[in-house]
Amino acid sequence: MNSLSPTSFILLVLFSLISIWFAIKISKKPSNLPPGPPRLPIIGNLHQLGNLPHRSLHELSKRYGPVMHLRLGQVPTLVVSSPEMAKQVLKTHDLVCCSRPLSRGPKRLSYNLLDIAFGPYSDYWREMRKLCVIELLSVKRVQSFGHIREEQGGELMKSLSKSSREPVELSERIFSHANNVLCKIAFGKSYEGKQFESGKFKATIDEAMAMLSSFWGSDFFPYVGWILDVLSGLHFRLEKLFHEFDGFFERVIEEHVDPTRKKSEHEDIADILLGLAKDETASFRLTRDNIKGIFMNIFLGGIDTNSVTIIWAMTELARNPRVMQKVQAEIRSHVGKNPKVDETKVENLKYLKMVVKETFRLHPPATLLIPHESIQHCQIGGYDVYPKTRILVNVWAIGRDPQTWENPDEFYPERFEGSEIDFRGQNFELLPFGAGRRICPGLTMGATAVEFTLANLLHCFDWELPKGMKKEDISLEEDGGLTVHKKLPLYLVPVEYKWQDYKS
Ligand code: HEM
Repeated sequence: MNSLSPTSFILLVLFSLISIWFAIKISKKPSNLPPGPPRLPIIGNLHQLGNLPHRSLHELSKRYGPVMHLRLGQVPTLVVSSPEMAKQVLKTHDLVCCSRPLSRGPKRLSYNLLDIAFGPYSDYWREMRKLCVIELLSVKRVQSFGHIREEQGGELMKSLSKSSREPVELSERIFSHANNVLCKIAFGKSYEGKQFESGKFKATIDEAMAMLSSFWGSDFFPYVGWILDVLSGLHFRLEKLFHEFDGFFERVIEEHVDPTRKKSEHEDIADILLGLAKDETASFRLTRDNIKGIFMNIFLGGIDTNSVTIIWAMTELARNPRVMQKVQAEIRSHVGKNPKVDETKVENLKYLKMVVKETFRLHPPATLLIPHESIQHCQIGGYDVYPKTRILVNVWAIGRDPQTWENPDEFYPERFEGSEIDFRGQNFELLPFGAGRRICPGLTMGATAVEFTLANLLHCFDWELPKGMKKEDISLEEDGGLTVHKKLPLYLVPVEYKWQDYKS
């Protein structure tokens, strides 16, 4: 037998080493992953997400089941689509599954404006969240802001009265109302947008939401994805946008610490936070940057979600005149000969509350929640989930699961009659605010504002369709993003209700 030449010997050793390396890698490959669709090299299953990922993932779950494993770019992703599996993620393994992928913050700022809602599980997140829940968004605090909701509600009704019997585009009006309420609660006054370069508040918030829901290379391709973000211009747009917000928040703080500022009768959130920042005995010393971070999260969390929900509710009611009449009759029978709904009355409006639940079931604004990330290994549905797996909870699909809901696509608020199911994170069939450690801290503020605004819209006006339009023409088409909203504008005709003529 011929002996091997030195070159062949080296090649043979190299080949053997590579084979051993592959064998080890294959043997280490987790074998108990949940089922999922086949994937392409490099992009994995990214091409299967489409424009409305909650819908595409729902379709895939019909084939692969309520726990699926996908690879989005280079990121292992778990998608859960049933109440039982959501419970395992958000309750049984809540601590393991409650982190978030690292948020992309503008690098030139010394802090990250997004760290509360989008930051990973950390001591900082825990402190900030505790503060938001206890000091800013508690039930008592939310009630204390009732006068702002009533005053701004009055303004909205007044502006609609001026357009009585004309078609109005509701989205703009409702967004601007939600914005005014939140600005007054947070900063003590409304801002029209002159503070921003675009000159428009809505345009700036829209840009922020667009930034958050755009395709970021770095979200899917760790280490190299940032190149895509620089090339696509997203990186610079985000930097610019966050500097605008930073400057705006800076001015708000300066206005509040100005000793000549006339003290308002009611404390706003900026007053509360600046007061806490002075507290030398606090276990966590709040800085100016922390305060700006809280402002940003309240903004992004609070405006869009509220207005999107109100628009979906009005859309469904306009398509379902029976429900519209029934809910109006309930409200008017409680409010009687009063021009407006008083916030204390809303608690007794049982059918209105069912209408809101039904809207959240069919149209949760955050259809996949905000992505979670696992910290350690755990098992969901008997399958392995490894650390650093991104987790998406398809609450949109859960709200339409035929195993839980009869005729799931029908808008039928009566389904909640005599049912204990609520949206406060205890019932995994209905999760518009999520559940567990990451549940929306603004739940009470959000739900109160939605119920109250709807009660007034429905009490003060009858709503007709523009001439020539049939209820079947009202589109339910969605548009994607971090919050999923109605794609086409909603035009309705408000007709002032003669509350003076009310007969009990
Ligand atoms: C209709 C109204 C609202 C809906 C449907 C809603 C929904 C949600 C959802 C689904 C999440 C993510 C939960 C998860 O990932 O598990 C969330 C998080 C959050 N929401 Fe809301 N929200 C609403 C109103 C508000 C309001 C009014 C505020 C503040 C004023 C707010 C502030 C936040 C914040 C800061 C987070 C991040 C929490 C964290 O990651 O720790 N939201 N919200």
